[in-house]
Amino acid sequence: MRTPEDLLSAMTLTEKIGQLTMVTADYAVTGPTVATDVTGALRAGRVGSLFNLYGTGATRAAQKVALEETRLGIPLFFAHDVIHGFRAICPIPLGEASAFDPTLWKATGRWAATEAAEAGLDLVFAPMLDVARDPRWGRIAEGPGEDTRIGRAVAEAKVNGFQGRDLAAADAVAACAKHYVAYGACAAGRDYASVDISDRTLEEVYLPPFKAAVEAGVATVMAAFTDLAGVPLTAHEGLLDGVLRRRWRFDGVIMSDYGAIGELMAHGVAADLTEAAALALRAGVDIDMMAYAYEKGLPQALERGLVTVEQIDRAVMRVLELKRRLGLFDDPYRRRPAGRAELPPVDAAARRAAREVAGRCLVLLRNRDNILPLPDVPGSIALIGPLADAGPEMLGNWTAAGRGDEAISVLAGLRRILPDAPITHAPGGTIDGETIPADALADTVAAAEQADHVILCLGEAGWMSGEAACRARLDLPGAQEALARAVLDVGKPVIVLLFSGRPLAMEEIFDRAAAVVACWFPGVEAGTAIADLLTGAVNPAAKLPVTWPRHVGQVPIHHAQRPGGRPFDAKNKYTSKYLDMPNTPRFAFGHGLSYTTFGLSGIKTRPMPGGVVVLGAVSNDGRRPGKTTLFLFVRDPVARLSRPVLALARFETMHLGVGEARRFGFTLTREDLGFLDEASKPTFEAGQFDLFLGFSADPERLTQVSVTVG
Ligand code: GLC
Repeated sequence: MRTPEDLLSAMTLTEKIGQLTMVTADYAVTGPTVATDVTGALRAGRVGSLFNLYGTGATRAAQKVALEETRLGIPLFFAHDVIHGFRAICPIPLGEASAFDPTLWKATGRWAATEAAEAGLDLVFAPMLDVARDPRWGRIAEGPGEDTRIGRAVAEAKVNGFQGRDLAAADAVAACAKHYVAYGACAAGRDYASVDISDRTLEEVYLPPFKAAVEAGVATVMAAFTDLAGVPLTAHEGLLDGVLRRRWRFDGVIMSDYGAIGELMAHGVAADLTEAAALALRAGVDIDMMAYAYEKGLPQALERGLVTVEQIDRAVMRVLELKRRLGLFDDPYRRRPAGRAELPPVDAAARRAAREVAGRCLVLLRNRDNILPLPDVPGSIALIGPLADAGPEMLGNWTAAGRGDEAISVLAGLRRILPDAPITHAPGGTIDGETIPADALADTVAAAEQADHVILCLGEAGWMSGEAACRARLDLPGAQEALARAVLDVGKPVIVLLFSGRPLAMEEIFDRAAAVVACWFPGVEAGTAIADLLTGAVNPAAKLPVTWPRHVGQVPIHHAQRPGGRPFDAKNKYTSKYLDMPNTPRFAFGHGLSYTTFGLSGIKTRPMPGGVVVLGAVSNDGRRPGKTTLFLFVRDPVARLSRPVLALARFETMHLGVGEARRFGFTLTREDLGFLDEASKPTFEAGQFDLFLGFSADPERLTQVSVTVG
């Protein structure tokens, strides 16, 4: 077998740069430009990897060209955005984060990897690890939510799920930690806008999930589109070479995002493609995704002495090493054997799994008078709203090879699970229509008046979140608030099912509805999973991975804020507040109800050398078995730096039978209790620490114990 070194020594400059060039095919459009004459470029050795192409036949054909019609026959790798499933689409990542279950996250990663590899993919552009605290940003939907520790747990789970133990295995795919780094802090929640955060916030909030991915062995990292304090990540030598490669010893492949090297000119840091290519290569970017900057700019950069052959060779070697680790030199058809079906099916087993995962990600926000679950034999149902029979919308954004016509809508799910319940469906207009036709509105009111149970399906379309899908407002789109008001005015208890890629501000509905379920976009088995929750077949356990604002004016709002010098005091005018809105969110990070109730007891601490052990018990005090998540937050009330009022230190999701009590014990070390000093080095200050335990970050419901740690 030719070694990467042998290949490198035989390669021309064009062939070397070809290995550094990733080009999109045409199975999906995920960026502003598309490629032309891909096969011609392949034959000329000007492409080293393809994305947005999948299926055994298509990838096999392209691989054949690379192997048999190029001078050196170097295999391609094939990549795609497999963000929350490949064929069987699961809840969007923000929804899956609601499960607070790393075992689940790893399992769905393994499942997606198997499906993707079965369709000829070698690499997935996932996990997306951008901590996000601004729901105006559409990509909050794609990530782990607002908390760094959750981001770290998602990173480890997904990298292990996707890559498995052996990257060369036929059902393993290379993962890609993206978008490095702090993309979620873009100004005003507007995608691609500048990022300006402190070094401390960068180190404490945004970098750790990527460090966790590197520690888990992630094969690739994708640089973010954005600049950080004026330095675009695509040209950020300090963070790419300095932190990723030198500090964290990452030896995998760094790729740009879609066209981002060329966009260094728009950033205003490169006068032309040659300068852009030189900046990116020197910073540590190995693969140019869809800018053709390396192809068009690196030869001139070499001539002008802006880069060296050694820098090009180092990048080429990392790409060849990735292909070797993927087993592509041993068997380039490993993930695309002849005779295999073009795409894996969404079979009954996949649907069962997708239904179970979706059921873990539905957050019960309100349940006044325990109106849910519905009676064992429900009466007639009015199913109202533009998302009641909207199967394709249930997949959300980044739907890979999922098909909207395969998704189970709420209407279809209820009909399947409750075949004897009379269901009247009244859409009441469209998702974003500015008006509701009078007859459509009348139909909804009539349906609500005549039914025993009123279920209102509201929210966003799948395209209203994800990339380049930011919203300046967090209201319900279109005329849905008017629809909700008309249905609520009928005066019956209303159950709201909310579909969105972000928290939505809808105070009146939250005040007036009897029950509200945040469904996010639950995936291919949305309707059956929701029916399971409504009927009580599944006891909801999910919790919010993001704080839920009352209004967009409160953003950014999250649980880990620092106190400031004048924290809110209702009795003192001169404290931190709004004149027209409470400071408190509508729902806290971690909020989520169950059909049973859980209690916390016996909390005590036990000192240990350099740390403390926190003990106690969680009990199921209700009448149904169920799951809940226990959170442990920490605060250092006095340190040489002002510390967050709540920093998540531990979380554990547990299942408890009726009457069951489960003892827990969390060990906190100096590392958990410490922080980064002015030089971003871990430090610890002995003294008092306030520990908070509870089932969400709602300060009114946390139990506090204080300890002194030496
Ligand atoms: C897009 C996204 C990135 C995705 C890539 C390839 O612009 O920013 O998340 O993986 O291009 O589709």
